[in-house]
Amino acid sequence: MRILLTGSKGQVGQCLKDRLPEDWELIASDSKTLDITDGHNVLSMVKTFEPDVIINTAGYTLVDKAEAHAQQAFAVNATGTLNLALAAKAQGARFIHLSTDQVFDGTQHAPITECSVPNPINTYGKSKLAGELLALNAHVDTIILRSSWIYSEYGHNFVKSVLRLGLEKSNIPMVQDQIGCPTYAGDLAEALIQFASMSKAPRGIYHFTGHQQTNWCEFARTILNTAASIDPRYQSVSIEPITTAELAAPATRPLYCVLDNQAVQNLIGNPIADTPLVRVVKKLLAH
Ligand SMILES: NC(=O)c1ccc[n+]([C@@H]2O[C@H](COP(=O)([O-])OP(=O)(O)OC[C@H]3O[C@@H](n4cnc5c(N)ncnc54)[C@H](OP(=O)(O)O)[C@@H]3O)[C@@H](O)[C@H]2O)c1
Repeated sequence: MRILLTGSKGQVGQCLKDRLPEDWELIASDSKTLDITDGHNVLSMVKTFEPDVIINTAGYTLVDKAEAHAQQAFAVNATGTLNLALAAKAQGARFIHLSTDQVFDGTQHAPITECSVPNPINTYGKSKLAGELLALNAHVDTIILRSSWIYSEYGHNFVKSVLRLGLEKSNIPMVQDQIGCPTYAGDLAEALIQFASMSKAPRGIYHFTGHQQTNWCEFARTILNTAASIDPRYQSVSIEPITTAELAAPATRPLYCVLDNQAVQNLIGNPIADTPLVRVVKKLLAH
């Protein structure tokens, strides 16, 4: 199996590289070696390497900054995704792409299935939805995995931020009215590998997240409790619940973003590890 991976220096990209079966051939590209907004270079790399599957973990992921940099967000998340889908089609390769819970408006009250109609309320979500639609229209052999609240031992993420803030502050304000499911990037990488390895690959959109429904406040407490069992400096840190309105972030956030995982579970079982958070916190504190 020949895989072209984009975004290989991001959270999911790095976790994927760690887990790729040894007998798979990998071209791991990053923003310097393959800027996905450059359609000519994308096509040329695909023609040269001739992958069976293109896995796109690249993305413009700065949700708040996207409000002031919409053009850049759309260039990467919409045009870049289209470039990869078109190159996959030209090559006869499968295209596997990552999207987000933020294509939804957060007004639902029960886990959101793949049949629910997206209605993004911020620029990042709009750019990701545009990427989904462009890819699905461009290439029939496209799989989209929507995920949420991704964390890992790599890159920038909420777990790392909380561990850093816990050493800087005794009281950390955290939003309590956004509900979602943290997802370990390693679990998502395992799912991507399973999708890539299926001989009769499914097509279309799937939701894949961790099982635990929570809010940022509770998630931060869990991270700090886990950290405190390893490093006593975290024992005295407290969390102050605030609302999304009080935080007044540049990007509007959907309040309820629990994705229904049933379809993906029916397809590949349950590839979610039991306690990845503990492992990740231990790894991060060991460095
Ligand atoms: N993080 C989350 O909570 C979350 C939730 C749901 C879905 N997702 C989606 O899942 C995917 C992976 O997320 P992640 O957390 O692993 O992201 P990440 O850590 O931010 O990594 C994204 C990678 O994309 C690369 N990239 C940006 N622009 C590029 C371009 N023009 N050409 C090629 N590469 C480019 C970045 O490289 P540079 O650093 O060099 O710019 C970065 O290494 C993204 O599509 C994201 O939208 C993320």
